Amino acid sequence: MDRYLVFGHPVRHSKSPFIHTLFARQTQQELEYGLAEPAVDEFAQALRTFFDQGGKGCNVTVPFKEQAFTLVDRLSPRAKRAGAVNTIKLTDDGVLLGDNTDGAGLVADLKSHGVTLADSRILLLGAGGAARGALAPLLAELPSELVIANRTHTKAQQLAAEFCDLGPVTAQTYEQLAGPFDLVINSTSASLQGELPPLAPALIHTDIAIYDMMYGASDTAFITWAKQHGARQTMDGLGMLVEQAAEAFTVWRGIRPGTKQVLRELKRNLGVI
Ligand code: ATR
Repeated sequence: MDRYLVFGHPVRHSKSPFIHTLFARQTQQELEYGLAEPAVDEFAQALRTFFDQGGKGCNVTVPFKEQAFTLVDRLSPRAKRAGAVNTIKLTDDGVLLGDNTDGAGLVADLKSHGVTLADSRILLLGAGGAARGALAPLLAELPSELVIANRTHTKAQQLAAEFCDLGPVTAQTYEQLAGPFDLVINSTSASLQGELPPLAPALIHTDIAIYDMMYGASDTAFITWAKQHGARQTMDGLGMLVEQAAEAFTVWRGIRPGTKQVLRELKRNLGVI
């Protein structure tokens, strides 16, 4: 049977096996999908061993995405732009192809929530790996403006400079931000520590869409905060998780699974509904 897995550390709580097993069942693909948690300095060896032993493809998550970028034979254009690889496929001619489906997953999830990206003013919080992966797919949707704000302003400036050939992207400090924005995407890891990015509450209004790439069984700190300040449309990163997986599954199997039912089952599994 064709073998796939996700590499991460820690990875025990990954939902990827659950998601891909449902995709396989739905599309009647015969495959198995597991977990691998190599020591941080043993990822390269573990990756090689997996493919030497007949693995067909894998996902890569924290903290290995940047390293995976350097280990594959060939990169897709979107992985090259993202500077990170979350999906690897062994092609029929034996080439390890590195791809990145995170940004496509974000955009697909935003669209499935009915968020309009064309001509919109987007505020992207954070300038780490998650922000980098999102930039090209967001700019491809032709927003009127995309502003990056980050605690360490120089990192936001560097990202804006790197992507300004793709669209109207600029960097501003949190203090400089002036609304109204149509959509705020939180790509920071602040919610992981229950912290908030230092965003002025005045930027939140009833018609704004709020997206937090993080997710949990209950609202993230950022979503709770945004709701308290009047945001009516809030979304967490669970949909993005399922959409990036669907995109990876399509890369591997050449068949696109449906995501709605799988997202519902995942929510039930997490106790969200
Ligand atoms: P990832 O790959 O998930 O993007 P990362 O590359 O470590 O992770 O980036 C984390 C991002 O969250 C950074 O933009 C970080 O800001 P700094 O560049 O200033 O470190 C941001 N971040 C983390 N904790 C934060 C907090 N409490 N407030 C605001 N931003 C925070």
